[in-house]
Amino acid sequence: KRKIIIDTDPGQDDAVAILLALGSPELDVVGITAVAGNVPLRLTEKNALKICELAGRPDIKVFSGAIRPLVRPLVTAEHVHGKTGLDGPDLPEPTMKLQGQHAVDFIVETVMREEPGTVTLCPLGPLTNIALALVREPRIAPRIKEIVLMGGGFFEGGNVTPTAEFNIYVDPHAADVVFRSGVPIVVMPLDVTHKALTTAKRVEAFRKMGTKVGNATAALLDFFERFDEEKYGTDGGPLHDPCVIAYLLKPALFKGRHCNVTVETGSELTMGMTVIDWWGVTDRPKNATVMRDIDADGFFALLTERLGRL
Ligand code: BDR
Ligand code: CA
Repeated sequence: KRKIIIDTDPGQDDAVAILLALGSPELDVVGITAVAGNVPLRLTEKNALKICELAGRPDIKVFSGAIRPLVRPLVTAEHVHGKTGLDGPDLPEPTMKLQGQHAVDFIVETVMREEPGTVTLCPLGPLTNIALALVREPRIAPRIKEIVLMGGGFFEGGNVTPTAEFNIYVDPHAADVVFRSGVPIVVMPLDVTHKALTTAKRVEAFRKMGTKVGNATAALLDFFERFDEEKYGTDGGPLHDPCVIAYLLKPALFKGRHCNVTVETGSELTMGMTVIDWWGVTDRPKNATVMRDIDADGFFALLTERLGRL
């Protein structure tokens, strides 16, 4: 089993990513770490607990992490995710409790304890916890197997400013630390996730499962997609974060290129932009595999099959 830590700011799409991981026997979710992002930390940590309970997995360890970005004030996205971050389904208040340890300490301790090259980090929100762990204990960098993250955008542009994607924009300084860390990185940018649309037919497949998880997923996605549908007239919204987990299960669903990614932290106009050297026009080191294409039907087939196991 592949050991993963999911670092997340749920978020409807984060929630579906967590469900996909918990429904997949190939993955051992050693912990879930919450970070401030879509909504403030007190809500993202609670939402992570709610999703574990929905999946029937109150045994999963959930840790609370950074309450704000490293340098900049927190920017949230209630206009997309609703006031709770998880608007849509009517999920009960969680009865399971957060772990006492801080998320950053948990990440450091886990990576230092496990065999080198066996722990994969899956960030689905701003990179604050991951950057703090790398700064707190630099010896984790060569021990991490891989960081597979949702963030950034290149040909597609940004979704929070014309040039910046939300997760990178919220904590660009943390993203800069992560992209300079030397850890192998796989990036799922907007260029991929905007092709993974929750069309009416795909959402219907979740509802048709007739299970608690299927109904909750359909309700999450019905709420989440209304933002893009109203604003851009698309059939469905982009299912960003589950792409990270799908990559671990079936990497052949994605196509990309190994290249350099540098994060803009200096200009207010382009703050948080991921500058991707797709054409190799600089001699900057290749520090990430940036995905650009997805087999969207294959992705939703995998998702439906795995959520059906919960
Ligand atoms: C990212 O921002 C959040 O709103 C989503 O959960 C996703 O992680 C997309 O830009
Ligand atoms: Ca997220």
